[in-house]
Order: sequence, then C-alpha cells, then structure tokens
Amino acid sequence: MEPVKNTTGSKILATFQTPEREVNIESRLQLETYIASADHHAVEAADRREVLSRLAQPQKTLPAKYFYDARGSELFEEICGLPEYYPTRTEAWILDRYAGEIASATGLCELVELGSGSSTKTRALLDSYCNLGGALRYSPIDVSRTILTDSARQLLRDYPTLRVRGAIATYDHALASLPPTDLPSRMLVFLGSSLGNLTPGECDRLFDQVQGFLDAGEYFLLGVDLHKSTAQLEAAYNDSRGVTAEFNLNVLAHLNRRFGANFDRANFEHWAFYNEGDRQIELHLRCLRGHEVTIGDRSITFTEGETIRTEISRKFDVEAVWQQLDRHDLEPINVWRDPQNWFASILSRRRVR
Ligand SMILES: C[S@@+](CC[C@H](N)C(=O)[O-])C[C@H]1O[C@@H](n2cnc3c(N)ncnc32)[C@H](O)[C@@H]1O
Repeated sequence: MEPVKNTTGSKILATFQTPEREVNIESRLQLETYIASADHHAVEAADRREVLSRLAQPQKTLPAKYFYDARGSELFEEICGLPEYYPTRTEAWILDRYAGEIASATGLCELVELGSGSSTKTRALLDSYCNLGGALRYSPIDVSRTILTDSARQLLRDYPTLRVRGAIATYDHALASLPPTDLPSRMLVFLGSSLGNLTPGECDRLFDQVQGFLDAGEYFLLGVDLHKSTAQLEAAYNDSRGVTAEFNLNVLAHLNRRFGANFDRANFEHWAFYNEGDRQIELHLRCLRGHEVTIGDRSITFTEGETIRTEISRKFDVEAVWQQLDRHDLEPINVWRDPQNWFASILSRRRVR
C-alpha cells in the first residue's frame, strides 16, 4: 500500500489507501485450494504413507513434487537462468516465435496450465491470445502456493484485461475438479517437459486424465525435451554453481517440515547422471554414511552409498509422443521445434467424433 500524499506532496502518515490498480487485481483474481480443509488431514496422511512406502523400497524414490516448497520454486527459477540449463530458454524461444501460430490454430481459448510455476514462458501465449481480441483467461495450477500467487498477481498487473482463476492443487486434483470455461474453448498447457518427471505408467495415466478433462475440440499444448548427447544432458543437471545440487538437497528440508522428519543434509550429496538404457536423467541423493532417519514414529535405515532417486527427467522422441497422444484420442495438429532440435512443443486436440 502506498501512503496517500496531500496536494503539496508531503506524506499523511496515518492514512493509507489501497491503490486503484491493486483493487482491480484482486477483483480479477480467484484462488482455490483444491485440498479442502476437511480433507487436509486425510491428504497429509496419504502423502506421508506414500513417502514412507517409497523409502521402504530397495531403490528409495520420492515424487518430484517435493522439490517445490517456496525455496525449491525459487531455486528452480535460478536453474532456468543457468547457462548449462538449455530447456527453459529453448522452449521460450519456440513459444516466442510460434505463439501467434498456436493462437491462430486454436482461436479464442482459456489457458489452463499444469505446473505453471512462474508462468514466464506462458506470457508469449498470453500476448498472442491478447492480440486475437476477446476475453483473456488463465487458470494456473501448481502445488507451490507462493510462486502461483506471486506470479498470478504480477500477470494481473501486466495484463489489465486478464482474469486469473488459480488452483493450488496437484495435477490429479485439478484435472478431476476444475470447472468448465465460459469461453468457446480451452487449451491445457503442460510446459517445461514436466511430463518427463513421470514414469511411462504415470505418463499414460496423466494422458487418460487429460483425455477425460478436455471436451471434444479442446486443445493440449505439450512441451517435451528431446534426446541429445549425454555430455549436454549431464551438464544441464550438474551446473558449475551447484544450484541444482542445492535444489536436490532442499527436498530434505521440505520433508522435515512437512512430515516431521529429521533428515540431516550433511549426510547426503547430489548425484545426477544420464541413464542411457532408460533414456532419462536421474537425480539422486547419495548417502555419505550409515544412519537412521525418523519420520514421525517410523524409522528408516540408510546405508553408506545407497541413494534416494528424487527425480527422473525422461527425454522424448516426437513421433513416439505423437502416437501416444493419438492413442488417447488427442489428435496431433502441429509440432514446433528449435533449429537445434533440442525441444518440441506439440499441439493436439481432443478428437471430435
Ligand atoms: C519443472 S517446474 C516447471 C515450471 C514451468 N511450467 C516451466 O516450464 O518453467 C514444475 C512445476 O510444477 C509444479 N508441480 C510439480 N509437481 C506437481 C504436481 N504433482 N501437481 C501440481 N504441480 C506440480 C511445481 O511446483 C513447479 O512449479
């Protein structure tokens, strides 16, 4: 809030007014937390059970969503600007160049974005839909409350005709519960190759959910990171400044806070490599010495050298994704790539029968 100034310009210290622009922002912003408070304890308990069960497997793993508390989202934004991390700037290049074609192909649409984060790349799409004229609507979905609300407010400041309907929710919750749009159509957007964080089985399930979410004739824009050399891939996840290592280790602080665990990050180190057989980057936390960790009343044993796999980032082949979309009744329409063929944006449409 700005202090109100009198006609001579001096501040009237006791009187504060909400600026007109900020009022407009709040009236154009709708935020929903899709984990209703009544369900909250059940959801927390289910998440905790999932974490315990994954940490009880011979290869301990965690879902990628635990990277993203407020600090994790901040670190991810830092990663996006690193010279070694090519995916963000390459996808941004494709969207900056081709967003106009994408908007022309779909016509007026509400943009619904899974895992929206800072929504930085989405701005190219918003600009193009703005140029089409008509109402500008955006529904970001993210588990990370702080980054979603901060970026939604910034977008509302920058796009005076925009309305935002944000959902603090997992992909699962949002795809099952988001209400329909009052615009002629919707385009579900899934950028950053976040699809690569899902196993093939999880990916198939997500496509089932996308198929169920979209009405006939609605669109799906998917960003996928493509196969490339091991050296380039491994450099992107082992940056020289250690930001990715910090991002990886931050998972432990998130688990401590969320589930009352007592992980000590000094007992782990970041490890990332390209698994050529499975065509995926793997992020692990490698245990430096044998020790026990407690999560609530449960105890987990870690031996020296064993790892928790914290993320997979699968690398794709456009033709295979194209066929997989098609099998889910998502008719591929067009694909846009960068000149080096590092990244692709694939537009498909829920088939009209
Ligand atoms: C890799 S970042 C990508 C952010 C942005 N889309 C981009 O391309 O730069 C993944 C984003 O998805 C969110 N996220 C991760 N898992 C999620 C889940 N299961 N449900 C909803 N959001 C999730 C994270 O909080 C994060 O903002």
